[in-house]
Parts: sequence; structure tokens; C-alpha cells
Amino acid sequence: MTTPAAPLPRKRSIIEPFKIKVVEPLPLRTVAERERVLEDVGYNLFAVRAADVTFDFLTDSGTTAMSAAQWGAMMTADESYAGSRSFYRFEEVVQRLTGYQHVVPTHQGRAAEHLLFSLMCKAGDKVPSNNHFDTTRANLEQLGVDAVDLVCAEGKDPTLDHPFKGNVDVPRLEAFLTEHRGHVPFVMTTITNNTGGGQPVSLANLRDISAACRRHGVPFLLDACRFAENAWFIKVREPEAADKTPRQIAREVFELADGCLVSAKKDGLVNIGGFIALRDVAWVPLLRSRLILTEGFPTYGGLAARDLEALAVGLDEVLEETYLAYREGVTRYIADGLTRVGVPTMRPPGGHAVYIDARALLPHIPAEQFPAQALAVELYRAEGIRSCEIGSVMFGKRPDGSFVPSAMELVRLAIPRRVYTQAHMDYVLEGIAELAHRRATLRGLRIVQEPAFLRHFTARFAPLA
Ligand code: F0G
Repeated sequence: MTTPAAPLPRKRSIIEPFKIKVVEPLPLRTVAERERVLEDVGYNLFAVRAADVTFDFLTDSGTTAMSAAQWGAMMTADESYAGSRSFYRFEEVVQRLTGYQHVVPTHQGRAAEHLLFSLMCKAGDKVPSNNHFDTTRANLEQLGVDAVDLVCAEGKDPTLDHPFKGNVDVPRLEAFLTEHRGHVPFVMTTITNNTGGGQPVSLANLRDISAACRRHGVPFLLDACRFAENAWFIKVREPEAADKTPRQIAREVFELADGCLVSAKKDGLVNIGGFIALRDVAWVPLLRSRLILTEGFPTYGGLAARDLEALAVGLDEVLEETYLAYREGVTRYIADGLTRVGVPTMRPPGGHAVYIDARALLPHIPAEQFPAQALAVELYRAEGIRSCEIGSVMFGKRPDGSFVPSAMELVRLAIPRRVYTQAHMDYVLEGIAELAHRRATLRGLRIVQEPAFLRHFTARFAPLA
């Protein structure tokens, strides 16, 4: 009798499920060089040139490394103005993914929002979601529509470990639909919930939202930029879905809704692109007419055919289990690494980003001195890491100009897809551990110049002594 082979150890290192064929040098700068950059740009990381950034965690949007298969497909694209073969290939991939028949390409997510909302909404309407993303909210508000956030209570507590913090509070949604009957053109849900920390929405919750929408006769639309990451979280966290493939889960999710808006710059694994896909034809003729006015002919919608080819391949690649397990592994690895060195993060980590709780890390810096901005600036100065402040710089100004502290002081590290290796992440973790060690020496900032609105993009700061 032979002894059975020992099973492989269950816990092994995360490996990138790809080999690297094309490389780009990592920009390396000295601390002194970065200090000069910071002075020049007024301590605003949006104004830093990418060539001066070593690890760019500003966003996961449009920053993906494409595969050899995507680059190859681009070479075969059919750049005809009308009826391009590449469009029909892209359309077939989206139809197979979502089950929705009508596919309208746009150049990115916000163009899709602007087009669809301006058709479906009128001033005085109200659109609920778990949390609206900034551009979704802005596109609704500029039409005079009230964008309402109905995320569940668990989603508002950064320390709570809960599997589906992106869920909608369905009893509140029911009450909302009853109270505002006739004024809700559709219900939205963002998967994963970016503004709420990249947290997923469960299949059970999506079923309940869908049922509530049916009962009230209101369409249900998904903001589905990160549909694959959401499907993966459902697979690993919701027992009924454990044996399903990410593709089956994604399809089940799309089937619960009436359509979706997608910024393909995330789970499309491309650098530009977006689309609207709808089950029902009702809005489609008008949508296509408007598309011609603002984006382009319906078979390219503001994109080159080569972009449609890359997207057609990306939408399939993103559902591979090895890729999704690696993707989730990366954010978990960073969040666990930060926890080990005493850096508090929002729990659990999201699919595309890790959020450092700057208020907890830097309790000596008051909200008026922008602790999250101070941390983001120091991450850049000392380590060459670009992150994004989501705190009192972004949200701390009332329309009348007065200061109101943001609910949370977060620094977002959004992870580009397939770009950095585990060695990069180890180096980043070592750097943040050193920074955390001297946290008491960090100082706040004051604003020296700011625009009337959206100040985080262009404000200038000065460090406090
Ligand atoms: N919806 C969500 C949930 C998003 O995260 C974004 C973009 C959009 C819509 C808009 O798409 O950029 O293609 O026009 N999020 C990026 C980010 C910018 O950094 O989180 P877009």
C-alpha cells in the first residue's frame, strides 16, 4: 500500500497569476527631490507629475496593465465608422455577460451616467442607492435630482468586520419608495460600493432590492464598474454561491436588475471605456440619438474600435478565478500587513482599495489641520506613494464656505490591476511601518488657496510648523 501524498499546505504566498512580458521603469526619486516637488505643487498630490511618483495608488480606474491577448486583439480591430466588426464582438461579450440585449458604448462611466440620467430623470426626482459615486451624484444633482444614500448601518462603521457592508437598507428603501411614489425614476446600487470603501453587496440583498423595485414598479439599475470583484466576494462570503463560478454569479446579479451603467476602466481591464446595457428597448432609440450628438455613432460611442476589442477580451479575463483570488488577496495582504504594524484600516478591506484611518493614526492632528491630507503628503514625501485623501479636504467645506469636519478622515490606497508585484507591496508596507513609528512627529496643513468647489483637486496647502 502506498501512503497518500501529503496535501499541499493550504496557506501559500499570493502569486501574481501572470508572467510579465513588457516592463516600464519604476520612477525613483530621492526624498529631497520629492520635497521640492511638494513645495512646487502646494502639497496637493493631484498636481504631482506621475514621473515623480514611485507607487501610484491614486486610483484603480484606467490604470490596468492589459494582457498580451488584449494588445493582440487591438491589432485586429475594424475601425469602420459604422457597423464595425469590433462593435459586434464587444456587444456579444456584454450580452453574454449581462443577459441584456441593448448595448450602448460610451467613452467612460460618467458619459453613460450623463446620457441615461438626462433621459430618465427630471428636476424634483429622487434616486436612491447604497452610496452614489461622486460623478453619479453630480450628474443627478445638476439635473435637479436628489441623490439619496441608503447604505445599511454596518456600512457606516469603519471598524466593524461584516461581509457585505455595501448592502442597501431595504426596509428604508421600501419606506422611501412608498413615501416618494411617482418621483423615483429608478433605484441604483453600486457594486462594489466605492464610496463606502469598495464593500460588496450580497446576492440576498440584491434580490430584496429587486423585489422591492418590482413591487413598486420602479426600474432597478446597477452601477456595475466592479461587478467581477463583487461576484468574487459573493462566492467566498455567501455560502449559497460557494460552488458557482464568478460568471454565473455575475449573470445572476445582472438578471435581478433592468440594466447597468459601467465604467469599463475598472473591471473591464482597460484604460478607457464604458457602456450602458439595458434589458428593455424603451429608452434605447432616444439614447442612441443622444449618443450621436455627444459621444459618437452607436457602434463606437466615443471609443476607437481597438478600445472595444481590448474591452471584449478584458470582460472575459476579469472573471477568471485565479485572477479574482489574486485580486482579493492583494488588498487583504496590504490591510493585514498594516494591521500588524499598528496602522488602523477600514475593515474589512474592499475589493479595489485599502483605506487608512488617519484620525485614529494621527489623533494629535485636529480635523481643521487635515490629518488625512497630512498622512497622504508624508506617504509621498518619505516613500513616493501617491494616495488620495478622503476626509475634511474633500468634504469639509459647506456651500456657505464654513468648515465642517468630515465623518471620517481616510487615505485611500487604490490598487491598479496587474501593475505592482508582491515585492512592491512588501516595500510599501515596510515604508508605512517606518512612518507609523514616527507618527507623533507628523504635522497638519493649512489651505493657502482654494477654488469655489471640488477643492481637493486644485487647493494649495502649507505645512504647519
Ligand atoms: N461609478 C463608480 C462606482 C466609480 O467608481 C466611478 C469612477 C464612476 C462611476 C465613474 O466612472 O471615471 O469612468 O467616468 N471611479 C474612479 C475612482 C474615478 O477613482 O474611484 P468614470
